Amino acid sequence: MVTGGAGFIGGNFVRYMLDTYADAEVVNVDALTYAGNMESLADLAADPRHAFVKADIASASEMAAVFEAHAVEAVVNFAAESHVDRSLHVGAGAFIATNVSGVQVLLDACRERGVRRFLQISTDEVYGSLGAAGRFTEESPIRPNNPYAATKAGADFLVRAAWKSHGLDAVITRCSNNFGPYQFPEKLIPLMIVNALEDRPLPVYGDGLQVRDWIYVTDHCAAIDAVLRRAAAGRVYNIGGNHDVTNLSVVRRILAILGKPESLVRHVTDRPGHDRRYAMDSTRIREDLGWTPRHAFEEALDATVRWYLDHGPWWRRVRSGEYRAYYERLYGRRLAEAGAAGP
Ligand code: NAD
Ligand code: TYD
Repeated sequence: MVTGGAGFIGGNFVRYMLDTYADAEVVNVDALTYAGNMESLADLAADPRHAFVKADIASASEMAAVFEAHAVEAVVNFAAESHVDRSLHVGAGAFIATNVSGVQVLLDACRERGVRRFLQISTDEVYGSLGAAGRFTEESPIRPNNPYAATKAGADFLVRAAWKSHGLDAVITRCSNNFGPYQFPEKLIPLMIVNALEDRPLPVYGDGLQVRDWIYVTDHCAAIDAVLRRAAAGRVYNIGGNHDVTNLSVVRRILAILGKPESLVRHVTDRPGHDRRYAMDSTRIREDLGWTPRHAFEEALDATVRWYLDHGPWWRRVRSGEYRAYYERLYGRRLAEAGAAGP
């Protein structure tokens, strides 16, 4: 079972598993929130190995029905409210419901049904922010700084508790910032690509010198597959792209690829509590499981920009409706203050 498989990473993972293993069978459970999109799964509609179920992981009765209908061997949980800015500006309620309560519902269901493995997709954000030096290891203290990260940290503790106290076979991966096809244009890279394509201002928070460690989504999928199949129960793995760079350098590279002017950049009011730097130490997964990222950042970013160029109808539809109100709420005033109108 893959949860959240109509979203960005979950959808890429479903495709990765079906492409890699002829005998893979996936039941894809997704509540289809604003971030879930059946259009992203259109190419899988005819594949008999893929079954889609619209359901909420936080509903015990809906989950019971899914487990009843499908012989679930393992659960990989991607389902989440995943955007820091929404957790700050829209509210933390949905984050607590899905990212914390939903995880406990899944853990209980796995225990009751004797599911062989539960894999929680967590994030480097649970560790908080780094200073000028060093990288996060799996032993770094858990110090989340925003509501999204706090709920993901809460889930990690629940997963650990299910393993320790009930003996559930559970593992956790904590990955750095992903990019690639089908990412919702609220996150940095797709937002900057689609804004630049439409010659709209690019809202860079604060000085833009915050650092993120970027990984191409397919490399993350390969790491999850390795952990799912070969990790020991109770183990936690960091996954990073080993490419930590400033936001401003990422934005400038996107503009260069598209041949757009740097005058599109607007420095807007910073995100509250903004984590300054993330960087992952992925030594454990390299040594234990032999995983390493295969995609160089530059080529992967080129391919991602090309994907958005080729999939205008996908992101234009995604940017209609609720997105417009969200964008105005988050960026309208800040862009006006920075000297440019929003869309
Ligand atoms: P996303 O927002 O693109 O997708 C989330 C999916 O979960 C959507 O399809 C949504 O409909 C679904 N969902 C939300 N609430 C649900 C619920 N209650 N029940 C069932 N489905 C629900 O997110 P993403 O970027 O693909 O992230 C996937 C996972 O990876 C998340 O758990 C996130 O914390 C983690 N993660 C993301 C990144 C990143 O850079 N995007 C990095 C590290 C970890
Ligand atoms: P984001 O993609 O939201 O991921 P996360 O907050 O999980 O790291 O943001 C990546 C970085 O880009 C982060 O430092 C915030 C910054 N950012 C901007 O400067 N402008 C934007 O419009 C967005 C969405 C993000």
